[in-house]
Amino acid sequence: MSLLHQSQYLTHFSTKLYLEAYYSNVESDYFRMRLLHEFFRKYSSKWNRGSARLLDFGGGPVILNYISAAPHVAEIVHAAYKDDERKEIELWKNDAEGAYGWNPHIMHVVSELEGLKGNDAWQERAALMRSKIKVVSCNIFDKHPIDPSENPNSFSIVCTSLCLEGACETVDGFKAGIKKLVRLLRLGGYITILFVEDQTYYYIGEEKWASLPISLAQVKEAVEEAGCVVLISERDPMPLKHFENPTYDDAKACVFLAAYKVKE
Ligand SMILES: C[S@@+](CC[C@H](N)C(=O)[O-])C[C@H]1O[C@@H](n2cnc3c(N)ncnc32)[C@H](O)[C@@H]1O
Repeated sequence: MSLLHQSQYLTHFSTKLYLEAYYSNVESDYFRMRLLHEFFRKYSSKWNRGSARLLDFGGGPVILNYISAAPHVAEIVHAAYKDDERKEIELWKNDAEGAYGWNPHIMHVVSELEGLKGNDAWQERAALMRSKIKVVSCNIFDKHPIDPSENPNSFSIVCTSLCLEGACETVDGFKAGIKKLVRLLRLGGYITILFVEDQTYYYIGEEKWASLPISLAQVKEAVEEAGCVVLISERDPMPLKHFENPTYDDAKACVFLAAYKVKE
């Protein structure tokens, strides 16, 4: 089977299949949700929640990066590369028929991690998220990776997950992408990156996609060269059965990293 490459996302990436393949089992996202929960618990007092803006860059059709964030920011800008990814987020934002079901994830964050029991709490969180989302397009290879009217340097938090290792073909390209994202942050703003370590491919159904193998050390170097100081980095190694039978992908670990911007 031929390998699909970074330049083929617009024409070949199956948004619905991606959701089914990677987001139908809430447990596989426990690591990401716990780390984001801990990040926002620890650092959200550092910015003004009445004015702070969060950008999820390359968010695709996925709302996971800002479940914990929603009470701590004024606006959530969800930037997605593909038209059908943006439509998917709009469907969810409007609570429309056919929208992907994120309730198990929201329940896990609100009820289990935050300890707010009962149906009202997680339903209120979903409503709060919906009220704050604005959907925009993005392309990491553009001079301005999101619309420049979105005010570069205005974001307090930029989140990105599983995007740059999919979009970039070289480590230098990845580093250039990180620099562009850090440029969107205000001084003292935070970036969180969830990535897969040393992955060369991943499957979406029958489609086999190329991925840039990158290590935690290289990602740390990228954020430091972009003017940030690393605050958190945690690896979640893949289980043994994954190494014995890598049917979905050949990643060695899932890694969460958070850093803050100390210079322009
Ligand atoms: C593996 S998906 C990750 C989606 C989501 N962030 C997540 O956590 O599951 C890779 C994403 O990279 C996006 N992408 C591909 N090329 C891109 C580019 N040039 N600029 C920005 N995003 C891109 C795709 O549209 C896709 O949503």
